[in-house]
Amino acid sequence: MTAEYKVHGDVAVITMSNPPVNGLGYAVRQGIAQGLEQAAADPAVKAIVITGAGKAFSGGADIKEFGTAKASAEPNLLSVIAAVENSTKPVVAAIHSVAMGGGLELALGCHYRIAAPGTSIALPEVKLGLIPGAGGTVRLPRVLGVEPALNMIVSGEPVKSEMLAMLPGQKLFDRMAKSPESLAEEALAYAREVAGNKTHPRVRDLPCKHPMGDAYFQFARNMVKGMAKNFPAPAKCVDAVENATKKKFDDALATEREIFMNLMLTPESRALRHLFVSERAASKIPDVPEDTPQRKIEKVAVIGAGTMGGGITMNFLNAGIPVTMLEMKQEAIDRGVATIRKNYEAQVKKGKLKQDKYDTRMSLLKTTLDYKDIADADLVIEAVFEEMGVKQKVFETLDSVMKQGAILASNTSTLDVNKIASFTKRPQDVVGLHFFSPANVMKLLEVVRGDKTGKDVMATVMTVAKKIKKTAVVSGVCDGFIGNRMIEQYSRQAGFLLDEGATPQQVDKAIEKFGFAMGPFRMGDLAGNDIGWAIRKRRAAERPNMIYSRTADKLCELGRFGQKTGAGWYDYKEGKRDAIPSKLVEEMIVEHRKSLGIEPRKISDEEIVQRLVFALVNEGARIVEEGIAARASDIDMVYITGYGFPIHRGGPMLYADQVGLFNVAQAMKRFAKNPRDDAKFWEPAPLLAKLAAEGKTFN
Ligand code: NAI
Repeated sequence: MTAEYKVHGDVAVITMSNPPVNGLGYAVRQGIAQGLEQAAADPAVKAIVITGAGKAFSGGADIKEFGTAKASAEPNLLSVIAAVENSTKPVVAAIHSVAMGGGLELALGCHYRIAAPGTSIALPEVKLGLIPGAGGTVRLPRVLGVEPALNMIVSGEPVKSEMLAMLPGQKLFDRMAKSPESLAEEALAYAREVAGNKTHPRVRDLPCKHPMGDAYFQFARNMVKGMAKNFPAPAKCVDAVENATKKKFDDALATEREIFMNLMLTPESRALRHLFVSERAASKIPDVPEDTPQRKIEKVAVIGAGTMGGGITMNFLNAGIPVTMLEMKQEAIDRGVATIRKNYEAQVKKGKLKQDKYDTRMSLLKTTLDYKDIADADLVIEAVFEEMGVKQKVFETLDSVMKQGAILASNTSTLDVNKIASFTKRPQDVVGLHFFSPANVMKLLEVVRGDKTGKDVMATVMTVAKKIKKTAVVSGVCDGFIGNRMIEQYSRQAGFLLDEGATPQQVDKAIEKFGFAMGPFRMGDLAGNDIGWAIRKRRAAERPNMIYSRTADKLCELGRFGQKTGAGWYDYKEGKRDAIPSKLVEEMIVEHRKSLGIEPRKISDEEIVQRLVFALVNEGARIVEEGIAARASDIDMVYITGYGFPIHRGGPMLYADQVGLFNVAQAMKRFAKNPRDDAKFWEPAPLLAKLAAEGKTFN
């Protein structure tokens, strides 16, 4: 894990070598610095080439060093870039495949740049809530022009090298190589060519101006404000680039660093960096090694062409994997196929899907009423009615017809996956694949690991999830798995808040201001309040001692199921989705409160948010402790990708960490005194209590 130094005649080549993308970790930075010194000291060397081994020039900072002392240990990236720029022998960057973040900043410190076509160029720091911190905002505008540079910095999106090379007057690339394969040779030749130059250009010496000056930056700021909402970094990108046009180079560089360091301390950047690392962590299963042999998944079958079956099918068609949908009746198939068609046609109309792609996708879809036709599928996903009896019949049939080695998955949202597996003689092949509605849109996939699920099955479905572009999070078997088990506690709190004095609109507004896409009552009206009603009825039988607010039941008894019945927690005008506070619901809540003998009080928005979020956190802590989730960050991934938790908060567990677990535990003690919050609800999960006492965090 370092940089390799080799001399080819009169040219020294420093090759960064830190798979997968040559992250600029401590050893690599040291390697570059040493290479430069060696080249400077060798009279036979006339020029230096810096390049990257394998699949990248460099992808930037080494994520393995995030948050460690090594990340900023000397030589830090700024020092390395300064050493490159100050080298008396010319330094040529030979750029290929990927040059992003610090990698691009390093290239900008070189005197000359030659790039292979097809290279992805980006300064993606804004996606981690930061700005480029090693000269990106002061050097890129000098070589590309202020506007294209600011666009790249604010969006963080990659642009192909050949596109950038076409920008008029650009100085980012002095030369384009003919092909990635010929880059190394061409770079050597180029280095020899420039070796004789008396002076070598430095990006820092180029001018940096925008003809419209202040007015342009005002426009840019206005644009960014609308886009960035909860994130400070995009506006800071504008500030930094404006500084580059107004301040002396070194002053602008110092200010860039200062802004970078300040952003590093913001909760928003902490959240984005956390999610970046968490997404990668979630794909790893502690006891399933990465080289676990996997099964081939080339043909998929889906049982049930309803709401979920159709959406699940689309995921595979989109990924080019053929699917056969099986149903009980032809009408159900026709309905399912029509819905899929309608979805794709809407995308074609909006210009999001090309007609030929739509045709290809539909050609991958087959339907049947006969299990014989799906017997050779590699993966079958069941999405039939949520009833154990129905599932039992389906899995017994699958066990008798499916070829050996087929993976048998259930999309159940509440049933026991171990029990489902027991209906077969091959429980090692059974797994839960819990998609979220709408299944063709939602990123989250809870992979439910049964007691007997094979490790190869787990490894295979994690790869399948990636292929269909889902964020997979592994959950153990328990009621509701990770996401729904936690949301139940959140919903209970929402009900208690009404009983104690809040209105549905106050609760919704408070949590929406916190950043949730939708509060619990608007959400209930959208999804259908009858779903929760059915679950509560089941719960009443299973756990008769669990208290919850009866207001939601009363609402359902009135037939107010939500938008689909034209009334729920709110009133709705015909055909409209705007939630109008309901007098009738308010009266119902007041009545119920009276029957409980509770004197209403004014509840602050802060208390509302804390009670809802800490209810999630406490259940999340239990889930980690029981090993249902492998790590707290998995819970954050579930909530960000499946439940509309605000991204800038980084998920419930990180939010609790940022508030401080001691403070969370203290708040829970206060809530335990509320009339509807029995002390049991707020009894801190042992893991939470322990971490709070030790001054530690979940993440
Ligand atoms: P749905 O009622 O829309 O669709 C079920 C389909 O299965 C119907 O088309 C029905 O004809 C078919 N079906 C029933 N028994 C069958 C059998 N024996 N053989 C073949 N087809 C059969 O239900 P939905 O909402 O799609 O739910 C399906 C499963 O997905 C359930 O287990 C549910 O808990 C789960 N789920 C539902 C979510 C949702 O938001 N709707 C979210 C996540 C999971």
